[in-house]
Amino acid sequence: MILSGKARLAGVIGWPVGHSRSPRLHGHWLDHYGIDGAYVPLPVQPGHFEAVLRVLPQMGFVGANVTVPHKEAALALVDHVEPLARRIGAVNTLVVRADGSLEGRNTDAFGFIENLRQQPAGFRAAAGPAVVLGAGGAARAVVAALIDDGVPSLRLINRTTERAVELAHQLGGQTRIEVVDWQERTAALAGAALLVNTTTLGMVGQPPLPLDLAELPVDAVVTDIVYAPLQTDLLQQARHRGNVAVDGLGMLLHQGRPGFAAWFGVMPEVTDALRSFVGGA
Ligand code: ATR
Repeated sequence: MILSGKARLAGVIGWPVGHSRSPRLHGHWLDHYGIDGAYVPLPVQPGHFEAVLRVLPQMGFVGANVTVPHKEAALALVDHVEPLARRIGAVNTLVVRADGSLEGRNTDAFGFIENLRQQPAGFRAAAGPAVVLGAGGAARAVVAALIDDGVPSLRLINRTTERAVELAHQLGGQTRIEVVDWQERTAALAGAALLVNTTTLGMVGQPPLPLDLAELPVDAVVTDIVYAPLQTDLLQQARHRGNVAVDGLGMLLHQGRPGFAAWFGVMPEVTDALRSFVGGA
């Protein structure tokens, strides 16, 4: 990679940031599209986040991604917040405007729905009820995405029921969100068109998600936002009984596209080569 003095700069701010696959993702696209730019990991401790955020435009950055643990702090600190980021309650993408002010966006909802739409059979949330497991930050983006894509109704299930109640209250609006107890999760799968795991269960180092899929219709789509490992127990179980199973790597790849477009002027594509390059990291 050879940079000129005019290279555009972006990066990912997190703590720790060493595990982030975003530098590989954006690096691949910069190379592929022959763009004079760089995307670097920016390890920033929580106590330094505000100072770094303020100085980004002054250092000539065109923007950045924000990851754990800074997503909520970014929402509070940016000059302009996109309405979707406010609904989700977190900012994962910063864009420096021409006047040097900072705009905060959230592209996780886009990444989630776009990944499902790109499947061979296509996907429309309007096709039927969805079941979402989990009520953390990832669940908020998934629920917002499904509502905006016209899901008719949604069952939200979390180990800590109060978190699900709060999420339903904040995001529900016109859409019916039914909170179901964690113990009732198996029966809640009846009639669902989509099942989403947004919990950390199934991730490397975590126990698998304990869930019996017997009640789930075989034409339902099953997706996991966990992408390490790529094939979680849930996805294997789903595929085995004939459901379409969609892994979480695609969401990660697609959520990066709007930021890249805003910073570098090209809406990048998600290809098989990109999947193996980033997925193999
Ligand atoms: P993220 O922002 O990535 O979604 P999070 O806010 O820590 O992360 O949320 C993690 C999700 O996984 C939560 O829904 C959590 O359930 P609780 O709200 O009850 O904590 C869920 N989770 C984590 N470990 C779990 C476990 N052992 N059993 C059931 N759910 C679990």
